[in-house]
Amino acid sequence: MIAVAILAAFPALAHPSAKILARDVNTLDDITIFSPPSTYTVPRTLYARTLLLETDGDETNVLLTTWENYSPEPPYFPIYQSLDGGSTWTEISQVTDQVNGWGLRYQPFLYELPSEFGGYPAGTILCAGNSIPADLSATQIDLYASTDKGFTWTFVSHIASGGVAEPVNGDTPVWEPFLMLFEDEMIVYYSDQRDPDHGQKLVHQTSTDLLTWETAVDDVAYDVFDDRPGMTTVALLPNGSYIMTYEFFGAPEASFAVYYRISNDPTAFDSTPGQVLRATDGTVPTSSPYITWSSVGGPNGILAVSANSDSAVYLNQCFGASNAWTRVATPESASYSRSLRVLSDGTLLITGAGILSGTNNSVTTSSIDLSSVSLASCD
Ligand SMILES: *[C@@H]1O[C@H](CO)[C@@H](O)[C@H](O)[C@H]1NC(C)=O
Ligand SMILES: *[C@@H]1O[C@H](CO)[C@@H](O)[C@H](O)[C@H]1NC(C)=O
Repeated sequence: MIAVAILAAFPALAHPSAKILARDVNTLDDITIFSPPSTYTVPRTLYARTLLLETDGDETNVLLTTWENYSPEPPYFPIYQSLDGGSTWTEISQVTDQVNGWGLRYQPFLYELPSEFGGYPAGTILCAGNSIPADLSATQIDLYASTDKGFTWTFVSHIASGGVAEPVNGDTPVWEPFLMLFEDEMIVYYSDQRDPDHGQKLVHQTSTDLLTWETAVDDVAYDVFDDRPGMTTVALLPNGSYIMTYEFFGAPEASFAVYYRISNDPTAFDSTPGQVLRATDGTVPTSSPYITWSSVGGPNGILAVSANSDSAVYLNQCFGASNAWTRVATPESASYSRSLRVLSDGTLLITGAGILSGTNNSVTTSSIDLSSVSLASCD
């Protein structure tokens, strides 16, 4: 499945002897997707997420984006669509809370089903996010689905319920879902403050039908109560292993240092060691990381990591080797929890919606050409 998809997107790879000529790709420089009106509550926007629709051959250039949208109550997740690789965007729908009466407030995530699953056809778009009332008294990670490419949405299931939406140890919220299909199960990774032994830990639940979810399993849980691993994202490496990134409040290197773990089984990260991400220039990025993998760039492709701490991205063409993270500048400003998406032309789309303390945030996107970056070589 993976190999077929890669060859379809990058036909030159089908002929290893074919000479790949320098490409003339179009990169984006700080495109504004949405500039919120002054009626919005500060910070107005945060935490952008993107999706490239990939299951239908004729729709490989459809992009969607969403974000935390601090609209008048109750909030919703806007869905904006681009048909031109991210240059221009139009609102096509809003994912609204259909069951709690609270709104969809924090941490949206978009995922396209690569194959039929749970009665939904391939190409169904899932949206997970945190439904929270205006007084922030509860957190509820809910799942919605769209079978028409993001134009209409239907509630699917409640995934996890937690307490007051404050990132304070001893409170019991759940946060930040990330979906990934693995074999015959949907995995939802999220941050969990409900365990009295851990200020916060990272867990996942699985489902075979998107309706019922198995008991939460630990992915990262430190012995020190005050430690707060947070914000799981996961990517598949070309050798079949999975890599997860997370922020680690309590890390010895830096507050909220970006850490990562590699495992052959993406449901067993708890049994693998975590390591800090330190670039070859010595930088340890911090806070709200996001990881993805691109088939473009060298025989192993390129892993790309974004973090809150700077505008750059951290690229690695050596399966995540600890001595091979190169810090590479981008035109996209730093944001709290930017998202990364590899487009079919081998560019890396970096999308942000502002900073936590921002009073005038907007949703913007930029891209870099992964075929022209110079990276640390593999030993
Ligand atoms: C893939 O590469 C990573 C990083 O070198 C390694 O930890 C992992 O064991 C490899 N996986 C397989 C299946 O060889
Ligand atoms: C807010 O940002 C927009 C661009 O997104 C800019 O046009 C506007 O001047 C800014 N307003 C303030 C008060 O800084």
